[in-house]
Amino acid sequence: MTPPDLVQAFDSVMKGRYANRFFTDQPVPYDTVHDILEAASYAPSGANIQPWQIHVLAGQAKADICRDISATHAREAAQHASEYTYYAPDLPDLYQGRKQEFGRVFYGALGIAQDDAAGRAAQTAKNYQFFGAPVGLIVTIDRRLEKGSWLDLGMFLQNVMLAAKVRGLDTCPQETLAKYHRVLRRHLPIAPEDVVVCGMALGVRDAALAARRGVMERAPVEAFASFHGFEAPPARDTGE
Ligand SMILES: Cc1cc2nc3c(=O)[nH]c(=O)nc-3n(C[C@H](O)[C@H](O)[C@H](O)COP(=O)(O)O)c2cc1C
Repeated sequence: MTPPDLVQAFDSVMKGRYANRFFTDQPVPYDTVHDILEAASYAPSGANIQPWQIHVLAGQAKADICRDISATHAREAAQHASEYTYYAPDLPDLYQGRKQEFGRVFYGALGIAQDDAAGRAAQTAKNYQFFGAPVGLIVTIDRRLEKGSWLDLGMFLQNVMLAAKVRGLDTCPQETLAKYHRVLRRHLPIAPEDVVVCGMALGVRDAALAARRGVMERAPVEAFASFHGFEAPPARDTGE
């Protein structure tokens, strides 16, 4: 592949990845998951400490965990909480606005009204079946590590999602699974010093259903980057 083709191919993998929430039950072989994790392990990490820990679930192991979490969620959701805070309790306006826009697009695409609490809850519950994906990942990190290592972990997880995408597989990262770390600990050898960070669904997209997804737009580069020391930039072709 020539360099321009490679650039286009690589960018299309990055831009083509999205949080897919509709999967077929087509199995993902052990070797494929292993290859994805091996490729992802080339993520950078401060001082190369490689702070990621992954529990890979499929078959009966996954079914047992999904059943237990789903039953727990239905029975006593309020009694479970993540061991870390994902969203700042007082999101600055910029981010609060984007979060609200996410909700509008996400639930709108699924035909769930903003005030339909039951509809929203039913959608959330699908997380605990990994949205029907044949493989679920549970991601943990040693709680003695600092924010820097969480940064490393994020890079690893993005690599996992891109390595899956380039193999024709889709993913959905799932922080909501962290809430059920006590249930997960009943099934998996999660060390006391480890925090459940998130889960991730992995599998083959159900193309017909996935077409219903809400597309999450991104802010333009100018909204988050400032350039310093460049010559005056040439006018960019915006395609309009
Ligand atoms: C760390 C992390 C945790 C997430 N947790 C969930 C989740 O629990 N459930 C879910 O449906 N989506 C979850 N998402 C998906 C986000 O909603 C999604 O990435 C975002 O809306 C941008 O959309 P896109 O990835 O489809 O482009 C999570 C994403 C990240 C990065």
